Amino acid sequence: MTKKSNQKKNKYYITTAIDYANAAPHIGHAYEKVCADVIARWHRLKGADVFFLTGTDENAQKNVTAAQEAGMEVAAFIKENSQKFVELCEVLDISYDYFIRTTEKRHAKISQFVLQKMYDKGDIYKGQYEGLYCQGCEAFITEKELVDGKCPEHNVKPDVIREESYFFKLSKYQDKILALLENGLVAPETRKNEMINRVREGLNDLSVSRTGVSWGIPIPFDKEHKIYVWVDALINYISALDYPEGDKFKVYWPADLHLIGKGINWFHSVIWPAMLLSVEIELPKKVYVHGYLTAEGKKISKSLGNIVDPIPLAKEFKSDPIRLFLLRGIVFGQDGDFSHDSFIQCYNSDLANDLGNLLNRSLTMVEKYFDGVIPEAEDNVYKNDALVVEAKGLSDRLSQAMDELDLNGALELIWALINKANKYIEDAKPWQLKKTDEKSLKTVIYNLLEVLRIISVAVSSFIPKTATEMLSQLGLKEHLNNDGFDELFMWGKLEANKKVSKADPLFPRIKKE
Ligand code: ME8
Repeated sequence: MTKKSNQKKNKYYITTAIDYANAAPHIGHAYEKVCADVIARWHRLKGADVFFLTGTDENAQKNVTAAQEAGMEVAAFIKENSQKFVELCEVLDISYDYFIRTTEKRHAKISQFVLQKMYDKGDIYKGQYEGLYCQGCEAFITEKELVDGKCPEHNVKPDVIREESYFFKLSKYQDKILALLENGLVAPETRKNEMINRVREGLNDLSVSRTGVSWGIPIPFDKEHKIYVWVDALINYISALDYPEGDKFKVYWPADLHLIGKGINWFHSVIWPAMLLSVEIELPKKVYVHGYLTAEGKKISKSLGNIVDPIPLAKEFKSDPIRLFLLRGIVFGQDGDFSHDSFIQCYNSDLANDLGNLLNRSLTMVEKYFDGVIPEAEDNVYKNDALVVEAKGLSDRLSQAMDELDLNGALELIWALINKANKYIEDAKPWQLKKTDEKSLKTVIYNLLEVLRIISVAVSSFIPKTATEMLSQLGLKEHLNNDGFDELFMWGKLEANKKVSKADPLFPRIKKE
């Protein structure tokens, strides 16, 4: 039986938003993918059968406009940009299971199937749309939402649209959506409350087709119309699983987590659940809304020219330092800022000073005092000390933080252990024990190496390459593949009398420019 069809294992289905293929990725896109990747990797470590979906949103009118501006044929332009998102995933070690492109044939077929089902149910009717449309948002927008006559998100005047359109009876689902929101579909709390307040104001039916566009998926019951891009985009979460009959759909749906940014909460927490209610599919378990990143304190925008391109950044500094900065420097669920200085600061302090140094000085002592061979711990005062107690309790505390999606909290716990281990060296003074107490020295060094092994396991979801490298230096190359979660965190797994293989420091300090 293949891993993906094993129904007995716990399954975990996680998705990111699919990014518009109108431009190359920016650091905000990188952020969402890294956070989702950590959660996916964590569930794999826990033994779950994970399906992690990401991809690109390709049927948007803004993609067409951008292609025209670039003087390129639309399909070729979109493909080129989509490829950059694939590359982003590669350079950041994003362990997705599938990368969907919504110009895929099966996606069009499944989107049409869903629309037809909603139509057959009597949830879609023909009407006339008159109003405003912001192409940046790819969304209908009301006068009330404008600031100085412009969409506040994109700072542009919306288009005035007057055309025949099909409407989805969103209003019919108001009470059910409200109940879902109140029962905790959306987190964090502030994002949940925003949605509850808006739904309480009343839901208007949603225009789900456009006639004024040339690009997109035709409406199955009226080929003159194209499916409104947000509607087909949301369907990606089930088309990627081959809804309705696919094995993957049977195994992985409902989604355990849709991870999205704050700008698209409404679509995921109100429109998507209403569509699912209409076609009578189980609802996702959770929508988690992360904050937005600014770059050097300013909103990321093409016109400001401050699009931090994460691909060269990850190539220059490697994926783990970027991942760690995004995870540690930004409180999950809140807005944050990417700045070059704070990135370097995080690198030098957390990676070079704390983690890298701990590994390096510990292995140096193994080489110096024990010819590179892991000593056997002797039973003495050092064995039951605070460091060991802390390391033994780490997996429970970490699990609790991760269950709460407290990614920062989880890293705080790991770094507390790293710092304790560094302090342990200062307190135990192995260089003195070498002269006075060989037995204790052995225990101290063994404990340090064992803590390093546990730290490697703990960081593996966050900074996976570092974890593998650390384990390799500890002489444990295949460690993460061999054991289950509980065993990996068990104290005393590190075998004595084996050789370590110390390498150059993992994180040489970067000089501030
Ligand atoms: O919204 N910081 O695509 P998108 C952090 N195609 N996250 C950010 C961000 C920032 N500065 N800017 C955007 C779309 N994001 C749709 C999604 S899903 C069925 C369709 C987040 O390329 C944004 O909130 O504009 C979204 O979660 C993701 O990046 C893609 O944004």
